[in-house]
This record gives sequence, structure tokens and C-alpha cells, in this order.
Amino acid sequence: MIKGFIFDLDGVITDTAELHYEAWKALADEMGWNFDREVNEKLRGISRMDSIKVIMQHNKVSLDESTIVELATKKNDLYVASLDNVTPEDYLPGARELLTHLRTEGFSVALGSASKNAEKVLQQLNATGYFDVIGDGNSVAKSKPAPDIFLYAAEKLQLPPANCIVFEDAEKGIDAAKAGGFHSVGIGPEERVGHADIRFNTMKEATLFEVKSHFKELF
Ligand code: BG6
Ligand code: MG
Ligand code: MG
Repeated sequence: MIKGFIFDLDGVITDTAELHYEAWKALADEMGWNFDREVNEKLRGISRMDSIKVIMQHNKVSLDESTIVELATKKNDLYVASLDNVTPEDYLPGARELLTHLRTEGFSVALGSASKNAEKVLQQLNATGYFDVIGDGNSVAKSKPAPDIFLYAAEKLQLPPANCIVFEDAEKGIDAAKAGGFHSVGIGPEERVGHADIRFNTMKEATLFEVKSHFKELF
């Protein structure tokens, strides 16, 4: 039986990818590095430190660890400042409706995000109240595609993975859900999340009715 839902944040509840892009782009420009939306796409779902390493690799740059941390912190300061502009108008279409519906139907709901800024994003959206448990980039050491963040969330919900559905927009996020033994819903194109149990192009189509009808035997 499905008793819980675990949501990724960026790309599922709200779209902060553009804000991440702008902050990385400002850092890259300052460093004289190449960075575009195609490279930004590779950062979907992965941690801040993994992200800067992808960008450095793309530019064939190597730096010592403390400099990397310093640069990642600089990017983060820009990103966090830009979060002040996020408002309750910035849910992805359908996301707030689904969260509300899950609340009224009595499901347990957790966040399972790689971001260390997840609490701030939820506050800006006024979304904190939808979640029984918040798992974020500060909760576990190993980031996606490791299943740790979802296992953390499920444990806090006191539910086994088989009783939970994970919502994810990232390829590595679906990998993480599967590695943990969770049911999975992919949000986005086939080439990115086609390996999820079920897939919707956007959150707008991912209603509780649709999800229930796909996982019929589990409800
Ligand atoms: C994820 C995003 O939610 O958080 C990634 O999809 C991002 O793109 C990651 O790199 C880490 O975010 P933060 O806020 O800890 O730098
Ligand atoms: Mg995401
Ligand atoms: Mg995420």
C-alpha cells in the first residue's frame, strides 16, 4: 500500500534551475570559463560540489579543494540572494494542487532534495506546511544517484520504501529512487526520466487521480 510521497524540490515543486544557471554563469564569466544551458542541464539533481566539478571538467580546469569550496560558496551566495525573489506564485503548475490533495487524503509527505537551501526555498513558496519531513542536502552525506536522501526521508516517515512514491525530474534522481527500492514518478522528457515507473511531461498532468490509476494495485 502506498502511504507516503517523497518529492524532489527543484524541477518538481518549483523551477529554480534558471536561478542556479544565472549564479553559475556569473561565476563562470568571472573565471573566464565556458558555461551554457546545455552544461547547466547536466547539473540537474546533483550536489553543489558535484556541479562545480562538472563545470571545471567541461573547461578542463583543475584547482585545489579549498579554492573549489571558495568558488562554490561564491556561487551559492549569489544563488541565495536570488531566492529572495521566489514567491508563492512560483510553484510549478499542478504542484501545489497535488500537495494540497495529498494532505486532504491523509498521505505522509516528505521532501527529498539535494539542495542545502531547500528550507529557504520552501519558506519563500510558503510550502513548509505541506511536508511532514524535510530531507535536504544537509541530511545525508551521499547525494543522488545514491538513494540515501530518499531512504532518510522514508525512515523519518517511518515507512518502508515499497510504501512510498518518489517524484523526480532528474535522471540521477530516478536512479536514486530505484536504487532505494522506491516506486517512482518521472517529471520530464522520456530521454531524461523514461526509466521511472511512470512518467508525466509536467506536474500539471501528475494529479493524484492519474498517479492512482497508474499504480492501481498499490492503492
Ligand atoms: C538540487 C538541484 O535540487 O540542488 C541541483 O537540482 C543543485 O541543480 C543542488 O546543484 C544543490 O543545491 P544547493 O542549493 O545546495 O547548492
Ligand atoms: Mg530536481
Ligand atoms: Mg533536487
